[in-house]
Amino acid sequence: MKIEYHGHSCVQLTSGGNSMVIDPYLTGNPTAVSKPENIHAQVVLLTHAHSDHIADAVGIARRNNALVVAIHELATYMSWQGCNVLGMNIGGKASVGFADVRMVQAFHSSGIIVDDQKNIIYAGMPAGFLIHWDGMTILHAGDTCLFSDMKLIGERYNIDLAFLPIGDLFTMGPEDAVTAAEWLRAKRVVPIHYNTFPPIRQDASHFVKMLGERGIQGIALKPGESTTL
Ligand code: NI
Ligand code: MN
Repeated sequence: MKIEYHGHSCVQLTSGGNSMVIDPYLTGNPTAVSKPENIHAQVVLLTHAHSDHIADAVGIARRNNALVVAIHELATYMSWQGCNVLGMNIGGKASVGFADVRMVQAFHSSGIIVDDQKNIIYAGMPAGFLIHWDGMTILHAGDTCLFSDMKLIGERYNIDLAFLPIGDLFTMGPEDAVTAAEWLRAKRVVPIHYNTFPPIRQDASHFVKMLGERGIQGIALKPGESTTL
C-alpha cells in the first residue's frame, strides 16, 4: 500500500488501483505541494468539519465522483454540496468496497464557521477512522487530545500504522502523542497536523526519536512524500 502525505492531516492511501484520501486540505495550505486536481480517489474520509480538513473535499469528490464518508451531520452537509455521501457515526463500521472503515471517537470540536453571517453550523462530533484494508489496520486519529480509551482501541485492534496529530494548541502535542502511540500499541506512527502554521510548529525528528526510545517506529514525511506499507 502506498502511503502519501499531502501535508497537515491530509493523507492518501492507494492499493491495487483503489485510493482514499483523508481530510483533503491543499488549497490555502502554505506547505502543500500536491494540487487538488491531481488527486484521484474513489473515497474521501472526513474526520470533522474544520476548514483545514475539508477545504478540498467537495472539489475532489465531485471531480472523481468519489464517495464522501463522514459523521451523519457532516455527510448531510456534504450531500447539499453535491457529493455522494455515506453518513455514519462513532462505533459504526462501513464498507467502501475495497476497505472497511470504522469510526472512532476523537475529543475536539467540529463546527462550520460562516464568518460573513456570524454563523456556526453544527456538523456533528469529531471522529477518527480505523481503516481495515489489505489485511492491515490503519488509524487516522483526526484532531484529538490524548484520551484513555486509546488503550481500549489498542487492546481490540492491531494497528499497523497510526497517523497522530502532534501540533499542540488545537490537538495533543508530541509528548501526549508518544503516550497515545503506546496506548494504541501502534507499530508505526506518522505525525500529522504540525508545521502548517507557526502556532503548531514542532520538531518531528525529536518526536520520532521519542517513539524510537519506546520501540515504536516513527516515520516523519514531508508534504508530497510517500512510503509503502
Ligand atoms: Ni480541527
Ligand atoms: Mn485541524
